[in-house]
Amino acid sequence: MDAIDRTAKTSRKPTSSDKKLDALKAKQQKRKFRGTSTPDPSLNVSLEDFTSFTQHLQASRRIFALLGAGLSVASGLATFRGSDRLWRGHEPQDLSDAQVFFEDPVKVWWFFSQRMMGAQEAEPNAAHFALAKLASAKEGFFAVNQNIDGLCERVAFPQSHIAQVHGTLFSIKCSKYQAEKDKCDYESEVTYPVNEHLTLPQDIDISDAKVALPEVARSDLPHCPKCNNLLRPNVVFFGEATPLSLTERIYQFTLGGPIDLMLVIGTSAVVLPAAMYIPIARNAGARVAFFNMEESDEEPGRLQDGDWFFKGDASETVADMLKGVIGNVGR
Ligand code: APR
Repeated sequence: MDAIDRTAKTSRKPTSSDKKLDALKAKQQKRKFRGTSTPDPSLNVSLEDFTSFTQHLQASRRIFALLGAGLSVASGLATFRGSDRLWRGHEPQDLSDAQVFFEDPVKVWWFFSQRMMGAQEAEPNAAHFALAKLASAKEGFFAVNQNIDGLCERVAFPQSHIAQVHGTLFSIKCSKYQAEKDKCDYESEVTYPVNEHLTLPQDIDISDAKVALPEVARSDLPHCPKCNNLLRPNVVFFGEATPLSLTERIYQFTLGGPIDLMLVIGTSAVVLPAAMYIPIARNAGARVAFFNMEESDEEPGRLQDGDWFFKGDASETVADMLKGVIGNVGR
């Protein structure tokens, strides 16, 4: 019965509305790929680079990507090592530290609350959408995302194709998570504000050291409902290891066969182990394409012969350079 039905369906003569629908789809497809054979002239990418990259991308089966803070700059978020990085005069990495959290959890919670609010209010940009589309189009695509801003999650990035190696701002866990004894495995998803005490004042910017931090008692910080210890952001603090389950997923990909292409997008590539995925991909045969405002002069992010370098804002360059496979995205 099933077989007969299916045969009947495939041998049915196309009606005029089928034809109209097909014509509409063809028109939409044409529009989606209009202008995809040349780079956007405003980006200053040579036709030669555009063509060689597009051909390589189209032929690539296994594509690896390393994503960093530059990806979200067009969404209005600060990087970790850029000129706008300081919070009350502190380096972000000095506040993203288990010892500092232990000594001054109020300050660290204010820092993360402000980051959380910024990320929650930010919108994903064309590069986030383009990468999610590439991940859906290429079965063999896998991204290591260093960003904790949640923007890749908000563009329906297929989660089996991405590892959030530094955690996320939108989750909290018990600070006894990694304790040797009496380890507590509580964790939970959150949105800004984590609780009413950590609501940012409306008219002042607490990232400015001249502004007094609103007073919050340690007892007003979020506490674990299971063991009553302090809760902390579910991010990988400096000096902490990437969760083993994620490292295993990444190695499953890198050891799963030759890699055709590595995309290094908006990262200074100085934080380990993430930066080491560049030489790992090279060793697996990958050609490397960098998308950044500036070339790095430090290994392992330094350009080599045969690499591509696409200079400019990632939201523009990434979407434009991927259009040979995914069509035009939001520009
Ligand atoms: N488009 C593309 N790249 C950009 C843009 C932009 N609009 N703006 C800045 N960049 C580049 C910078 O030139 C720099 O190379 O993005 C990179 C940002 O580097 P970092 O600030 O070091 O951020 P990231 O590489 O993501 O840091 C890695 O370090 O502090 C930790 O855990 C934190 O995940 C973070 C990790």
